Amino acid sequence: MGAALRIAVLRERARGETRVAATPETVKKFIALGAAVSVEAGAGLSASVADAEYAAMGAEVGDAAAVIASAEIVLGIQGPEVALLAGAAPGAWIIAGHEPFGAGKARVDAYAAAGYEALAMEFMPRITRAQSMDILSSQSNLSGYKAVVDAAGAYGRAFPMMMTAAGTITAARAFIMGVGVAGLQAIATARRLGAQVSATDVRSATREQIMSLGAKPVFVENVAGIEGEGAGGYATEMSPEYQAAQAELVSAHIAKQNIVITTALIPGRAAPRLISDAQIASMKPGSVIFDLAVGAGGNVEGSVADQIVERHGVKIMGYANTPAHLPADASALFARNLYNFLSAFWDKEAGRPVLDAEIGDAVRLTAGGVVVSARLLG
Ligand code: NAI
Repeated sequence: MGAALRIAVLRERARGETRVAATPETVKKFIALGAAVSVEAGAGLSASVADAEYAAMGAEVGDAAAVIASAEIVLGIQGPEVALLAGAAPGAWIIAGHEPFGAGKARVDAYAAAGYEALAMEFMPRITRAQSMDILSSQSNLSGYKAVVDAAGAYGRAFPMMMTAAGTITAARAFIMGVGVAGLQAIATARRLGAQVSATDVRSATREQIMSLGAKPVFVENVAGIEGEGAGGYATEMSPEYQAAQAELVSAHIAKQNIVITTALIPGRAAPRLISDAQIASMKPGSVIFDLAVGAGGNVEGSVADQIVERHGVKIMGYANTPAHLPADASALFARNLYNFLSAFWDKEAGRPVLDAEIGDAVRLTAGGVVVSARLLG
């Protein structure tokens, strides 16, 4: 047997990124599989993990150049700049959220040119056996929670109804737009905080999910093109008739809301606009809108990433990178997604993961010096 396959974990360098792609738990598990793991000094600090905790699990902690030397697998939250990878094994796998449709496009081309295999974790197929490997789910779930908690923080009133000696406080009304993974967690969190919760989506399958969480569904009825579910359970773009009916329904509803959380995304496209400035003007002063899609163009007119914008007395907020606001938990789940992915394909004899076609072809962006992903070429 040759030397153990080396897995490298670099410190994230993107602005505002606080997460780390491995935790002491996953380091220990990778080593148990037979890999060697090296972690860049300081990689876990912003996620509350000290170098000594990695070292205690058997990781070698060093500077970037030492960590990357002969690494066959490099783990990241976001893709590292190709210059940082000098010294990695030829054809090394670079496994991260690569954002190949957005900020990461040029970097993916650079990985190809350098002969690396970039694997995009956000391209994980939505199939049952890949659920535990799905970074979009693990991170969206936390984002849905954080959106509600931070909207509650910015709201000048309480969420629950309270009967006090000084009088009664009414419950906040919270409206969740887009009921995917983030939206479901937003509903659950707003309910736990005591708000009266309603929710909407273009996928009619979400109606029952909304009700099962104790919230009120708000749905467009009797309009052409109503079924908004496309491949892989994702939303599709809706017909003009549907969009007009949705805007009308939402306008009437939104004027009565105190808290609105928007989560609507369409893969590979700009986020759909769900709330206009006129609708914001109809809301009561002091209301809060949290735009979870602000990093993808925004669901809300006037939202600006990482700022609280006031329009018509309404606070509009959202983060460019919501999971980075919960770095410890977001890292723990992301790191487990990476471990679950690699361990599911670990070939004991080869001492390395060997991907199958269904998942491998879905996540592989580059190989043999070129871009190979059908989604990028198509
Ligand atoms: P997403 O992040 O792509 O979008 C968020 C939500 O916004 C979706 O529910 C979408 O239908 C909704 N939306 C889009 N345009 C809208 C509009 N104009 N108005 C209102 N809502 C709009 O979705 P996410 O969270 O990734 O989940 C999509 C589906 O995939 C869900 O059914 C989820 O359960 C499923 N899923 C399956 C997995 C698996 O089997 N491995 C893993 C993760 C999710």
